[in-house]
Amino acid sequence: MKLFDVYARWQIEPVKAQGCRIYDRKGDEYLDFYGGHAVISIGHSHPHYVEALTNQLHKIGFYSNAVLNSLQDEYAQKLGEASGYADYALFMVNSGAEANENALKLASFHNGRKKAAAFGSAFHGRTAAAVKVTDNPKYQAPIGEGMEVVFLPFNDIEAVRKALAAEDVSSVIIEGIQGIGGIQVPKPEFLQQLSEICAETGTVLILDEIQSGYGRSGKFFAHQYAGIRPDIITIAKGMGNGFPVSGVLISPKFKAVQGQLGTTFGGNHLACTAAIAVLDVMNRENLIENAAQVGGFLISELRKLPQIKEVRGHGLIIGLEFSEPIKAMRDRLLFEQKVFTGATGANVFRLLPPLCLTMAEAEEFLRRFTLVIND
Ligand SMILES: Cc1ncc(COP(=O)(O)O)c(C=O)c1O
Repeated sequence: MKLFDVYARWQIEPVKAQGCRIYDRKGDEYLDFYGGHAVISIGHSHPHYVEALTNQLHKIGFYSNAVLNSLQDEYAQKLGEASGYADYALFMVNSGAEANENALKLASFHNGRKKAAAFGSAFHGRTAAAVKVTDNPKYQAPIGEGMEVVFLPFNDIEAVRKALAAEDVSSVIIEGIQGIGGIQVPKPEFLQQLSEICAETGTVLILDEIQSGYGRSGKFFAHQYAGIRPDIITIAKGMGNGFPVSGVLISPKFKAVQGQLGTTFGGNHLACTAAIAVLDVMNRENLIENAAQVGGFLISELRKLPQIKEVRGHGLIIGLEFSEPIKAMRDRLLFEQKVFTGATGANVFRLLPPLCLTMAEAEEFLRRFTLVIND
């Protein structure tokens, strides 16, 4: 059997990784400023994470949600404390899209409305409802045509006010910082007013923190820069440091109805163990403060480089916009300087390194990056 050929791939095969470093089959070492798409939070193969998962696998790896699993309660309690949302409830699933799918459904169950609103350049996943609120027709299959979604201009509060005035929109979904849209940071005043308008119109506010959350921005959630409390928050990526796990954080105003949501794999023993190990390491090693400090240093140094048109982001979610296409620079960075980076569109680098990035590694990146952009 062949693989279904849907990915453009680099001809590199990582076979080992440690911290912020990746090693390929030939033994070459790479600096990881991509994190496998913002997934690696505490660093590759962290010893505590490896030990916790190995030990758990020797006990029990999986059972379904038909039985008690105290690892879920332990994780929920730790997540509540770490995130500042101890009064919210947690529903665990397996991927980012699935978390958003459940968030959109929960909002619709809650207020009985059918329509959703999202923002230009948004990305929320590829399952039926999640892809409908994603601003890219390339990903939409005809089967999903029935659901009504209105796309609004990002950071435009008057457009939001107009769209929600009829009180027929079930939920508004927005990323804490737009990732695939090019690291676009919503203005704090915009998020504050959006939150107020949602409350006034009975619209559920869903914050997609799948890419921007879990300490990456230098706060647990990027929306915490605006001081708002959304009705629903979705998490994935950094939550499991590579183990597939995601979650929906749900405000106390939502009533749980047994059987309304469900999953076979969600919240299994290994997923909870991975998620607990990640939070323990984040706590012990102060990784959120580290992301703020090392990310702040990177952002201020990158802003000194005149070749870059704009530097955007917070902490270790950083976008570098150039006036020209970056493909050649990105390839040279990877193949000559051995640095993995992300990109979005033709002109924007996306830097999403593990949150354990050291100042020395940040300096090393700046040296290699400067060599490439000066050439
Ligand atoms: C903001 C955001 N939401 C949702 C998703 C979808 O996550 P997944 O690929 O795990 O379904 C992504 C993935 O890149 C994302 O960046």
